Amino acid sequence: MLVLGMMSGTSADGIDVALARISGAPPNLNTKLLGHTSIKFPAALRKEILRVAEQHPVTGGALSQLNFRLGELFGGAAIASCRKFRIPPMKIALIGSHGQTIFHRGKPVNFLGRPTASTLQIGEPAIIAARTGITTVGDFRPADIALGGQGAPLVPYVDYLLYRHAKLGRVSLNLGGIANITVLPRAAKPQQVFAFDTGPANMLIDALVAHFARGHLRFDENARLASQGRSLPALLDELLRDPYLKLAPPKSTGREYYGNTYLRKLLALGRRYRAKPNDLIRAATIFTALSVVDALNRFVTPKTKIHQLIVSGGGAHNPLILAQLSAALPGIEVLLSSRLGIPEDAKEAFAFALLAYETFHQRPSNLPSATGARAPAILGKISYAPPH
Ligand SMILES: Nc1ncnc2c1ncn2[C@@H]1O[C@H](COP(=O)(O)OP(=O)(O)O)[C@@H](O)[C@H]1O
Ligand SMILES: [Mg+2]
Repeated sequence: MLVLGMMSGTSADGIDVALARISGAPPNLNTKLLGHTSIKFPAALRKEILRVAEQHPVTGGALSQLNFRLGELFGGAAIASCRKFRIPPMKIALIGSHGQTIFHRGKPVNFLGRPTASTLQIGEPAIIAARTGITTVGDFRPADIALGGQGAPLVPYVDYLLYRHAKLGRVSLNLGGIANITVLPRAAKPQQVFAFDTGPANMLIDALVAHFARGHLRFDENARLASQGRSLPALLDELLRDPYLKLAPPKSTGREYYGNTYLRKLLALGRRYRAKPNDLIRAATIFTALSVVDALNRFVTPKTKIHQLIVSGGGAHNPLILAQLSAALPGIEVLLSSRLGIPEDAKEAFAFALLAYETFHQRPSNLPSATGARAPAILGKISYAPPH
């Protein structure tokens, strides 16, 4: 079966698309990544997504319009990707579209007098199915929340299938807007897999760069700016006192915490320590790497022997993050996911192709040990392609 996976994470930098050939069923699943690409968001749409995701006021009408407009964009991205992969959409059996997260509250909070958890990914799958003629699975997270889980993380199921090793303890690290890890002890059983968000990945770096460049730059390509900055150990120490790092897993975070409010905090800290822009970008970059190291030292390596850290996501292209990880984790081999066959930028999109495949075959694909759900759930909702 040919399956297209589409992912847009908290960075809202664009839509990553992966084409996979998948057959069989776990534990004898055969997967092959055939191609991957990325399609940028139009600037106006990105701005609106970030505004809404930062929880600025939005009317029900605007949200509804944004959902359908994004569906058009995702549908267009699927068609454009098929063209690039030189494969007619007709030949593709299924799309898995994660959608754009604009709100995620995995743990219940009081809402109108009752504890409520919820999540919302937009980019209407019915539009994607109609535009492409390909049956589309979307809305993966709610089914897990409905069973008492946090609705995240979902990629651990895929990490388990791809990276579980009989002799090696492994951690899979994805550096998107937020950094998250999946811990796969040696010869792990599904119940032994655990996963959580360690803290920021590119979100703080991107926010600082966009702030200092007044919107002319979006990210610190190859850590060019951070490399020109000075180290400010006292400022870094202060960053490392972030209470999120000490919270026991399972835990997840997002733009609600590491968004604009955090940027203001960073800028104030920068003024206090007389940091130049590049000094602060450097500190945020090193903080990002060390928050992952902190999570491993605090919650993982005391319990489980880890041999390899497999890194994916856009932050895998940041040489300063990678160097810091390697330096601070003696005894652990830090390697890129491409070394194990999946390019850094295709990993999450590939994961949603696989999750859609499982859903289509009516198999559960949450890992209750990772999400906290009471039971396995078949994830997602299916929008069928119009009949021929
Ligand atoms: N060459 C690079 N150098 C440094 N950072 C990079 C590079 N390429 C991508 N990134 C970072 O990766 C981010 C996108 O990562 P991605 O995995 O797409 O995150 P998300 O899943 O949140 O969309 C960019 O915003 C940028 O910060
Ligand atoms: Mg992205």
